[in-house]
Amino acid sequence: MTIQTIPTTPIAGQRPGTSGLRKKVTVFVQPGYLENFVQSLFDVLNATGQDGQGLKGQTLVLGGDGRYHNRAAVQTILKLAAANGVQRVLLGQGGILSTPAVSAVIRKHQVFGGIVLSASHNPGGPEGDFGIKYNASNGGPATETLTEAVYARTQIVRELRISDAPDIVIDTLGLQWVEQMQVEVIDPVADYAALMRELFDFDLLRGMFARGFTMRVDAMCAVGGPYAQAILEGELGAPRGTVVNAQPLEDFGGLHPDPNPVNAEDLIAHMARTDAPDFGAAMDGDADRNMVVGRDFVVTPSDSLALMTAHARLVPGYKDGLLGVARSMPTSAAVDRVAKKLGIACFETPTGWKFFGNLLDAGKVTLCGEESYGTGSSHVREKDGLWAILFWMSLLGATGRSVESLVREHWQTYGRNYYTRHDYEGVAVEAANQLMVDLRAVLPGLPGQKFGTRTVTLADDFAYDDPVDGSISKAQGVRLIFDDAARVIFRLSGTGTEGATLRLYLERYEPNPTQQDIAVQQALRDLAALADQVAGIARHTGMNGPTVAT
Ligand code: G1P
Ligand code: ZN
Repeated sequence: MTIQTIPTTPIAGQRPGTSGLRKKVTVFVQPGYLENFVQSLFDVLNATGQDGQGLKGQTLVLGGDGRYHNRAAVQTILKLAAANGVQRVLLGQGGILSTPAVSAVIRKHQVFGGIVLSASHNPGGPEGDFGIKYNASNGGPATETLTEAVYARTQIVRELRISDAPDIVIDTLGLQWVEQMQVEVIDPVADYAALMRELFDFDLLRGMFARGFTMRVDAMCAVGGPYAQAILEGELGAPRGTVVNAQPLEDFGGLHPDPNPVNAEDLIAHMARTDAPDFGAAMDGDADRNMVVGRDFVVTPSDSLALMTAHARLVPGYKDGLLGVARSMPTSAAVDRVAKKLGIACFETPTGWKFFGNLLDAGKVTLCGEESYGTGSSHVREKDGLWAILFWMSLLGATGRSVESLVREHWQTYGRNYYTRHDYEGVAVEAANQLMVDLRAVLPGLPGQKFGTRTVTLADDFAYDDPVDGSISKAQGVRLIFDDAARVIFRLSGTGTEGATLRLYLERYEPNPTQQDIAVQQALRDLAALADQVAGIARHTGMNGPTVAT
């Protein structure tokens, strides 16, 4: 085995987006594509590492969601890591680690950082997507400063340092070597499961299944399967088959592993049957997202965050209450009302989990969530699908209530925030950009303008002033806020790999309990029309409606 120095030429377009570098597999398999990016990452880490020592003597965690190209990418990254000074890698068996598990392992073993191989909820397979993301020593996604530095490096990288060692056996637990670098293949579930045992009352949950509580968890043929099976069916005694689509497949069995009512339609159909289980849930490709479903009753992620906040003290890990909560700007303001009542701080951040990291590290918040089916807490620095499922199960166990009755009671107490997200996918990039440019141009004239019974009170392009490190993130989405607390928000997706996706978020507040049972799309129809009127969505995109409305 020797370490080689191989010349390379920069490849355009390697800028990490909302959550790492995501591209089509066909792009990632191009010669040098992954190598250039990882070399650039290591160059930056070696230049900026702790104590000026960079990666020398450090340990990295490595694993992914098992999608197509995961196994090959692991081998390449190990060879680059060995040649760039890394001392030890903790590798999930089979190259598998869910995103929250990477975070948990980094934190538990207090290591330098980790690499997650995933394109999250994007479809997999040879024609699907692949992705890579770096997490820092706090277990959370790298800051924008670091990802921008990596991007800058990709534009000038000229040399790869890589070992020519043979591939290692990634399916067998235990120690192996690549050059001087130790690779320890670890059980992907063990550390994560130990953390869940600290937070939840496993005896209570075990008792629920023993008394006949029924549940259906759809792992969507993605990485959450082994975790859910080990914990729910293995430790908690749920009947076999509680976790469906539990075997991770390289193409997710052709499923689109995004836990929302559209993509997890099979779960929704099961939960609508007369013999539906008490509780249903789904996770995404890398198991950081979750969707929670009662009997014939879907819970929006925004409501989920609000309810978890309201009842957190019922869960052992949160029995002393919450330091504060945070939600991304487009997430509904339902949690704000709970935070107000609890007398705790509520932060509004730009889209993307990385913005929660500083707040969590600084001890300002305990729970956080996004409308995009992401919820998490200070236990790791990623959102966490199975954690959310165990949290909800704990609430059901502690209260003896159904999902639907808990949510309806919540609406009666706090009012209901009707909420939907409309995605316009596959829009031509120029058309989408032009829409945003035109929209930003009309913002100054909007405050005070009347639309039906509503008046615009605020129209701006959201900017975030990080209260911990003082960094400012601009242009994070256009928001229109009305005098009745309704909100209309526009932003372009930062995770897509084809064309542009316009996301339109619609929300209105309904305090009257007799008006809280309207079908969501109907309840928000006038706001959708208003959005089109202001932004000219149909005119710019040529589309008459969204491709997905959840
Ligand atoms: C989407 C979601 C966002 C989430 C991200 C990563 O990003 O909207 O909330 O953090 O995926 O899971 P977007 O495509 O909107 O940039
Ligand atoms: Zn994900």
